[in-house]
Amino acid sequence: MSPLPFDQRDGLIWVDGTFVPWAEAKLHVLSHGLHYGSSVFEGERAYGGLIFKSTEHSERLRRSAEVLDFEIPYTVAEIDAAKALVLSKAGLSDAYIRPVAWRGSEMMGVSAQSNTIHLAIAAWDWPSYFKPEERMKGIRLDMAQYRRPDPATAPCHSKAAGLYMICTISKHAAERKGYADALMLDWQGRVAECTGANVFFTRDGAIHTPIADCFLDGITRRTVIDLAKRRGFEVVERRIMPDELSTFDECFITGTAAEVTPVSEIAAHRYTPATITATLMDDYMSEVRPKAQAA
Ligand SMILES: Cc1ncc(COP(=O)(O)O)c(C=O)c1O
Repeated sequence: MSPLPFDQRDGLIWVDGTFVPWAEAKLHVLSHGLHYGSSVFEGERAYGGLIFKSTEHSERLRRSAEVLDFEIPYTVAEIDAAKALVLSKAGLSDAYIRPVAWRGSEMMGVSAQSNTIHLAIAAWDWPSYFKPEERMKGIRLDMAQYRRPDPATAPCHSKAAGLYMICTISKHAAERKGYADALMLDWQGRVAECTGANVFFTRDGAIHTPIADCFLDGITRRTVIDLAKRRGFEVVERRIMPDELSTFDECFITGTAAEVTPVSEIAAHRYTPATITATLMDDYMSEVRPKAQAA
């Protein structure tokens, strides 16, 4: 990846329906989205020039905004078309796509009933570095100090920028201690997810994952559950308490960015990435590749 800061790259960014030069895609400092967190986004990947589950991401983007009480002024089909255009105009094949929507500047207070809603879409080259042997070593996770909030406290089913504040703090703390990421518990002390990915465990051939009722039910999570079921694995969505962490055989995380990434350690607990993780890593990569290319 280029070492250039993200605001200084070459190319074009789609902003409110038109393409603007990358470095000029700016918003005013008095934007509601910046001050009050009225911003939602998506993280998507294209493989072989096609965005994986583009429509599901566009639907989630619009839903995320609705949860924050604003409507993105583009339909799902228009957002899908804009993302495809961004990708093709940039000539990208394996890429990351970042749509972001936010409230503008007309009013600067908690209330912002009539602020303009903006939408921007950027894409950049991001090959999927899939080196199975290396990945199978697994990443190390620490336990996060923050918990996923109670659904009565925060709009937890929105991919809202504001919900990432505790993720960045937790990830930074983990990285300072030499870990790759942190595992977050939920507001009731149950295992929830990582700072940007969902988590799965295996025990005696079955797959266990927390119920996604107070954190993002990832598109990758749902894809991997389907793939596992197609393979005949038992998948159990249930409450998982931290004292169970020592009883699992394998652990992996899933997300658009993480894809399927094996985990070797969560704080004091050790895991050995093995057959189930390797099978789902392979199946996921076959699933995301456009079918004509995969054949
Ligand atoms: C907090 C969090 N959980 C889970 C996920 C996984 O979601 P998805 O598989 O839709 O990328 C992400 C990534 O967007 C995330 O940021």
